[in-house]
Amino acid sequence: MTPVYLDYNATTPLRPEVVDAMLPYLRERFGNPASTHWAGRRAKQGLEDARDQVAALLHSRPAEVLFTSGGTESNNLALRGVIAAVRPHPTHVVTTAIEHASVLEPLRALELEGVSVTYLPVNGEGRLDTEVLRAALTTDTALVSIGMANNEIGTIQPISELSRVVHERGALLHVDAVQAAGKLPVDIIHLGADLLSLSAHKIYGPKGVGALYVRKGTALAPLLLGGAQEREKRPGTENVAAVVGFGVAATFAAQDLELAEAHCQQLTEQLWQGIQTTIAEVTLNGPRHHRLANTLNVGFTGATGEGLMMGLDLAGVAVSTGSACAAGSLEPSHVLLALGRDEAAAKNALRFSVGQYTTKQEIEHVLAILPGIVEQVRRAARSPES
Ligand SMILES: Cc1ncc(COP(=O)(O)O)c(C=O)c1O
Repeated sequence: MTPVYLDYNATTPLRPEVVDAMLPYLRERFGNPASTHWAGRRAKQGLEDARDQVAALLHSRPAEVLFTSGGTESNNLALRGVIAAVRPHPTHVVTTAIEHASVLEPLRALELEGVSVTYLPVNGEGRLDTEVLRAALTTDTALVSIGMANNEIGTIQPISELSRVVHERGALLHVDAVQAAGKLPVDIIHLGADLLSLSAHKIYGPKGVGALYVRKGTALAPLLLGGAQEREKRPGTENVAAVVGFGVAATFAAQDLELAEAHCQQLTEQLWQGIQTTIAEVTLNGPRHHRLANTLNVGFTGATGEGLMMGLDLAGVAVSTGSACAAGSLEPSHVLLALGRDEAAAKNALRFSVGQYTTKQEIEHVLAILPGIVEQVRRAARSPES
């Protein structure tokens, strides 16, 4: 069996059409888009076409799209950029306990600079309650940052409902849509987001490129200084080839949305049914419904996610635990802890994330080998020598 890749939430392979669109910009269309001569104009055209394509995915104006180096930078720019623009007024930021590290870490850094941050709890399925959000907002709240879909468990937040609450209080809403794009509609008019982060490599585009949507009129200070690119909000010569690939990926993301959802839904359902039938003591982490169709996070009692991941890797199957390996110690997932799981349960999770190139046969293969691997890892955990 050829290797099986079930880690699409970590990254996706490039679409062939994306590679084809990028190649000329790595060869003959090499110009600097800031140059006014023919070579620069060609590169500039590629950049602006891509901006139109990303704006079309979001239903925004092209001028509201800033290209960045990816989701991490977009999140940092949104949070730090908005706060820097509203200070020195007292500032309060609201987020949830289950955000990606690229939201949580910049907020922790802002706390050290005197910004007050509230980390809201979510329910047992990872969902944020509108009333919990409403109660946390104060007259000092400048910004609310919420992930549209969670990368570990796939929970989808009711962004348009939440945005109404945020705007009633006069605050801005930043949405991390890195995992949602390509899997759910990311129409900013419907969502009501003021800022929204995207990353190309989660939607079959290249790594190291992303975008921040910034609603017209939103004050944002740049993180970097020293150039007029991206309306001076993100100076530095753009990675034109990657941006061009991102544009094409965005077009396909919009076009393939329904097909991709139906395909992924079938595969994760097949996987979950198969796991429940063949393996005892398994738990679904995250909601049964209202979840990203491609994401399945399962707890295997008595086994470690790490052990299972390694066993599957030896058999050629790539999955993820969803937990971070920090300073040599395996930290339990902060997302699963926030759902109310204890430390042991937070460590026995495995995240399967499928995508457009995943096949039914690959899922059948995984289902054939998984029970043996789970049994082995559980046995090893029980044995005193382990
Ligand atoms: C929800 C979420 N936000 C942000 C990021 C960071 O994106 P990037 O890898 O483009 O920096 C990720 C990547 O895993 C993510 O899942």
